[in-house]
Amino acid sequence: MTKFIQNFEKKVKETIQKYKLANKKEKIIVACSGGKDSTTTLYLLKKFGYNIEALIIDLHIGEWSKKNLENIKSFCKELGVKLHVIDMKKELGKDIHKLKTRKVCFICGINKRWLLNKKSRELGAKKVAMGHNLDDEAESILMNLFRGNIEFGLNSGPKVLMSAKEKKFVQRIRPLFFLLNKDVKKYSQDMKLPILHQLCPHSKYSYRRQIRTLLNKLSLEDSKVKSKIVKWFMEKQPELREKYASKDSVNYCEKCGEPCRNVICKKCELMTYIK
Ligand code: FES
Ligand code: ZN
Repeated sequence: MTKFIQNFEKKVKETIQKYKLANKKEKIIVACSGGKDSTTTLYLLKKFGYNIEALIIDLHIGEWSKKNLENIKSFCKELGVKLHVIDMKKELGKDIHKLKTRKVCFICGINKRWLLNKKSRELGAKKVAMGHNLDDEAESILMNLFRGNIEFGLNSGPKVLMSAKEKKFVQRIRPLFFLLNKDVKKYSQDMKLPILHQLCPHSKYSYRRQIRTLLNKLSLEDSKVKSKIVKWFMEKQPELREKYASKDSVNYCEKCGEPCRNVICKKCELMTYIK
């Protein structure tokens, strides 16, 4: 085992322990996409001895979805992890990936989050492990900041605090929270994990992509810029939590009954506009 692999695994283990992300008895659903982050999370949680099952949402985006699904199916088999495949088209009763809009990834993201929480809860999971890495978090912080929605970042961190208060929310955990994107990539390649290194074909228009390009440019000047953004935000979070405490309350969607912050959840609101 190389020094890099050792350090990488040590950092993930430390994050899990320091932030008490999980214990070995509770059931954890790993949200898989076929990408490097979630596949690395799946591999490591299994290696560390956690009680995991995997879940992948079949998005039906042609060959890209097929290949991701194939990879996850065979990798779960190899690891001896139970896999749940959720069909987005069937669940929603429509194929959102056929929509003629540049916002497909955004619409897909809201539906994925809704499905992931609902299905994980139905499967009796106590936690949902996400593959988000440090770059993702730095991007989210800037996106919220630039859009004037800084309070959306209340859910940022190695584990989502808001969801811990509400039974219908399954708590999301992020074991790779402090790992850089380039390091997750290197780890997954060094470990030869079965991964399709291709982003979702709809993501080229996403706002996140623009922010990612900006951050990568800034990192050429200052290699620690992403860590500094995340560190700054984590220090600010307690203050923000107090300020936005009223927005942190949980309601139940009038249409689907799922937990949300408003009268109707984002997914139901969005789907009323989509024919
Ligand atoms: Fe679903 Fe991009 S459209 S991930
Ligand atoms: Zn709803």
